[in-house]
Amino acid sequence: MQVILRQINDVIIRRAEPSDLIPVMEINLKTLPEHYSDYFYESLLAEIPEAFIVAEVNGKHVGYVMCKTEYGFSNFKRLGFVKKGHVVSIAVLEEFRKKGIGKALVEESINGVKLKKCDEFYLEVRCSNTEAVRLYEKLGFVIKQQLNAYYRDGEDAYLMAIEFEK
Ligand code: ACO
Ligand code: ZN
Repeated sequence: MQVILRQINDVIIRRAEPSDLIPVMEINLKTLPEHYSDYFYESLLAEIPEAFIVAEVNGKHVGYVMCKTEYGFSNFKRLGFVKKGHVVSIAVLEEFRKKGIGKALVEESINGVKLKKCDEFYLEVRCSNTEAVRLYEKLGFVIKQQLNAYYRDGEDAYLMAIEFEK
């Protein structure tokens, strides 16, 4: 059953289903240099469908966000051990950007990881990706660390994180 989370004009934001994975992989190939195996997409959808979300316009896939959960040291509390949501990847097709789709995808993924009882949510983003950094900052993420040569091409990442109220 399709779970529609919200609609912005002609854009439908809904939870992904197995049949969405190929179109999601196609968006990923067009928009980002970091790619993943088919199995990895399937495993994220199986693990946390609440935060694997697609954006669709007239039946065409235009964006996605996918996440996982992890247990580990807090990005906020010294020596705290917490459950963390992790934005693995998010993208919107270029011709559909600046319409609020990215923001809606991140907001719905926040709701999704909260449903999974995560204490925090984090991601890595290229330091040069000002569009994305600004979007995350607007939604409450803060830069916690700079990760040296995180990407294969040698670029640094910012680790950005948000802590949820109990
Ligand atoms: N009219 C005009 N501007 C608008 C409107 C509108 N109706 N709605 C939103 N905007 C503006 C926002 O205010 C924002 O502007 P600002 O940055 O100046 O504040 C800007 O458009 C972007 O916001 P959204 O529309 O919500 O985001 P968008 O749909 O453009 O997606 C994203 C952002 C996902 C980062 C996109 O640029 C993208 O796909 N980039 C390539 C892939 C990528 O870099 N992904 C992130 C990698 S990091 C990771 O995956 C963890
Ligand atoms: Zn990551």
